Amino acid sequence: MLHAVVKCSKRLYSRLPEKTSTLAKFNFPSATNTIEEVSNKIDSYLNNRSAKITLHGHIHRKSRLRAALSFGFIRDKQGDVLQFVSDVGSGDQSVLETMKKLSVEDSVAITGHAKRKETVGKEKEDAWELVAEEIQILNASNLDASRLEKLKQASPEDIPPQFRYLQLRTPFYQNALRTRSKLAQLVRKVLVENHDFVEIETPLLFKSTPEGAREFLVPTRAFDSFYALPQSPQQYKQILMSSGFTRYFQMAKCFRDEDLRADRQPEFTQIDLEMSFINSADQVMKVVEDVVLNLWKHTSKSGTYHVNSKGNLQPIHNLGENNNDSLQFQKLRYEEALQKYGIDKPDLRSNISFTSLSDFFVAKENPSFPVVEACVLKNAFEPEPEGSKKKKYKIPKSLIDPINYNRRRPYVWAVGKEQGEKNGNSNWWYQTLLEKNIITAKENINESELNQLLNLEPGDIIAVSTRAELPYENPTPLGKFRQLAIKEFPRKWLRPIENHEQQLVTDYDPESVTVGSWVVDFPLFNPVETSSHLDSPYPNYDFDKFESTHHPFTMCRSKDYDLLETDPLAVKGEHYDLVMNGVEVGGGSRRIHDPALQKFVFEEILRIQNHQQLFGHLVKALSMGCPPHAGLALGFDRLCAMIVGSSSIRDVIAFPKNQSGKDLVVDSPTSVDEQTLNDYHVTKF
Ligand code: AMO
Repeated sequence: MLHAVVKCSKRLYSRLPEKTSTLAKFNFPSATNTIEEVSNKIDSYLNNRSAKITLHGHIHRKSRLRAALSFGFIRDKQGDVLQFVSDVGSGDQSVLETMKKLSVEDSVAITGHAKRKETVGKEKEDAWELVAEEIQILNASNLDASRLEKLKQASPEDIPPQFRYLQLRTPFYQNALRTRSKLAQLVRKVLVENHDFVEIETPLLFKSTPEGAREFLVPTRAFDSFYALPQSPQQYKQILMSSGFTRYFQMAKCFRDEDLRADRQPEFTQIDLEMSFINSADQVMKVVEDVVLNLWKHTSKSGTYHVNSKGNLQPIHNLGENNNDSLQFQKLRYEEALQKYGIDKPDLRSNISFTSLSDFFVAKENPSFPVVEACVLKNAFEPEPEGSKKKKYKIPKSLIDPINYNRRRPYVWAVGKEQGEKNGNSNWWYQTLLEKNIITAKENINESELNQLLNLEPGDIIAVSTRAELPYENPTPLGKFRQLAIKEFPRKWLRPIENHEQQLVTDYDPESVTVGSWVVDFPLFNPVETSSHLDSPYPNYDFDKFESTHHPFTMCRSKDYDLLETDPLAVKGEHYDLVMNGVEVGGGSRRIHDPALQKFVFEEILRIQNHQQLFGHLVKALSMGCPPHAGLALGFDRLCAMIVGSSSIRDVIAFPKNQSGKDLVVDSPTSVDEQTLNDYHVTKF
């Protein structure tokens, strides 16, 4: 409760705003309708003066005032815009007077009747206008808001972020947040009604434990005593499995202090779930498919597809609720994903894949990265007209700009007419790499075999790079190249859609297609990286130190159990990621519920000295008869962004943080005074 100390001085009270006009803002008629409701039944309202309509909303646009007639536009909560006019015939000047005072973005209540519009447009609401008999300004907007009007008409994103509330008034954001709300309801409906899940909230004041990302610490007034905000409810949900709940879920707030990108916020929401007595990961995956397919079915304009055994896209018709059904999305192994697409979250709408050149070359620059591979973009350029003068194809800058690559970038060439005609000889591109000592050729290169493999023709682009046998580098340089190529040429090299008649369709709008896939068989551990991308074109690793690829609670594949003792890097985990159109929308795993095995992983593999202090609570809960369990978390913000067709999760978060982690609406984070810092035993340096 806030205890304000008010000194009884007359000066203070004299600042009280004028009573009548202030209280008038609190006393106003209720809305009778929305614009849409009246538009849908317009015939019963038209020219019927006694059918009174009261609309609530904001002034969208103001007319230039003419002497007698004035009009403006009101925008209601659904984002619909309607013209209102003064009642010229009534002789009542008060409406006209109020109209003169109106500013864009004032909130208003307007009462009047409907009149047929003289010039009827396409939209339903263009058929009528509201003849205003009474206009009440419920709160005026200040000058900033009217100035921002011009910007708003260009694009809502051009409104400065400190005026987020004005951005949110625009139809795009109204729709984005309404869709988010609808999706949250659908998630609850599917999990509770179809699958008997229980929604349980877990604490936000948690404990500092390493789980992957850096965490946000919360100091307390007790000396040397901190909470931490949860990176995810992972440990609590596992403890819930030991608490007799067999199916838990939560729309969980998570906090991670990591570099921000379009798909990352320091504070975000997961659809977090966990199930016990689970003997196969597929049981969790089926529930997740049911959630995701329902969300798409009920809210998205884009259709859901999976990649079939022929490598074509096939529409998904069945929802995943039937437990006997097999999974709808294909499973892609981590190694296969890295070899074919150079990333563990490939956009499978695209057909672009890689060709290994290992039969011809070995990479020389760094012995730990021996594999040489190529990516060919067929017909990237229109063919040169016959007889035209020699034209040099220009490779798009984004594909070769070093800024777009974390470390080294691939070597990229456009295949011109000249090179394309040099049949039987590919050395025009690989010669450079030999000369620069990037690669060495294996003995007796069979040129025609190499040519046949690559099939280079004028207008193609070829990119060549190197990688490790089992890449921990993710994406690889070629994987990044593939992502950039998809962005640069969104409608090219689309994977064919196989329709009902088994015809293949290749010319479609990629935005209308969502392809899902499970990625499985991740390495359970990876070697600790010792280099930063700034100091080396290749990542360096300490192969004697391991960290969990996802988190330390993930179970290994049964067949790899013995390798935990002999070769931890060879162990694959029972982890599964859900990837849709190149976005990692979720990740989960079967967990270690055996306390001795969990301790072995902490102690012997990850060598966490103080694991008892950090994770003792979890091991204790596991050792009280905790059943086998597995779960997953979906990134709710990412799902919402995909469904509203946005490339940034900021569009579906009411008050997101900017690139530097700041919320400009409330201006956070802020400094605090010395006394408060002292209370929390925090010292400034
Ligand atoms: P993970 O760390 O893979 O798993 O997170 C699950 C999903 O959360 C989303 N996500 C994010 N969304 C926005 N901003 C971020 N900074 C961010 N970080 C992650 C992603 C991701 O796939 N406890 C495990 C889940 C489990 O094992 O059950 C976990 O948190 O879509």
